[in-house]
Amino acid sequence: MFVLAHLSDWHLASQPRLAELAGKRGLGFINWQRKRKYIHRPDVLDAIIRDVQTQAADHIAVTGDLVNLSLADEYARAGALLATLGTPRDVTVVPGNHDVYVRAVEQSPAAYWGDYMRGDDGVDRFPFVRRRGNVALVALSTGVPTGPFMATGRLGRRQLDRLADVLQQTRGSFRVVLIHHPPRSPLKRYLRRLTDAAELRRVLADHGAELLLHGHDHRRALVWLDGPGGTKIPAVGVPSASAAAPHGGEDGAGYHLFRIDGEAASWRCEMIARQHMSDGGVREVLRQNL
Ligand SMILES: [Fe+2]
Repeated sequence: MFVLAHLSDWHLASQPRLAELAGKRGLGFINWQRKRKYIHRPDVLDAIIRDVQTQAADHIAVTGDLVNLSLADEYARAGALLATLGTPRDVTVVPGNHDVYVRAVEQSPAAYWGDYMRGDDGVDRFPFVRRRGNVALVALSTGVPTGPFMATGRLGRRQLDRLADVLQQTRGSFRVVLIHHPPRSPLKRYLRRLTDAAELRRVLADHGAELLLHGHDHRRALVWLDGPGGTKIPAVGVPSASAAAPHGGEDGAGYHLFRIDGEAASWRCEMIARQHMSDGGVREVLRQNL
């Protein structure tokens, strides 16, 4: 039995200096002050992280948007929180759009959290692979700087080609694809979509995976993607780990546990959703086999 915890979208925010508020960050800061600072709360994130720590998971995946405006102080605080979850061996991070909010910080996630974003081969590149027991974690990066009012992500041809190879090489393991953006978005989230989602779905349909985990939408979601030979791949979205309450189609804070057992062709995977409650506690709200 391998227990994988999945959390995402912490949106840790720090007070920016005036000089940091040019361009997209300025708009993001206004949005934060008017609205989002009431949604994403450090005390809620702390409660979720404390609950994760009691679960004795074998591994923890964090799928992006750890920070809000990609400020140095935010990266440092996120790094300190990652350290409370576990060592880089037991915690895997993939970046989200808020982790590379503007072009100047494109290298910052790697600079602050690089040890959590590196495969067993030690090379800095996406996708990277970490094998833990029967599980192969396949980590993708969709975090690219975008213009104002945009929150799109992109994998690019090189990453997609390598993903095909990696999924082939890890066949027989329980392959878990980690990605910030969802592999399919409704039209109303067009400006927040993964621009090459169709290409990703094609690679998954050709080469297969046992599970895909994503964040970005701040809501619990399960869709079934096509795998090879009529198989289906569960793609599970997790709520933000810091959202104080449900808001505008987004869920309150929560995270997921996946209990993975069995072997190739007869895997068992049970999903458990735990959610932050209005009384401050974190409790199980859903348990289902995938
Ligand atoms: Fe996001």
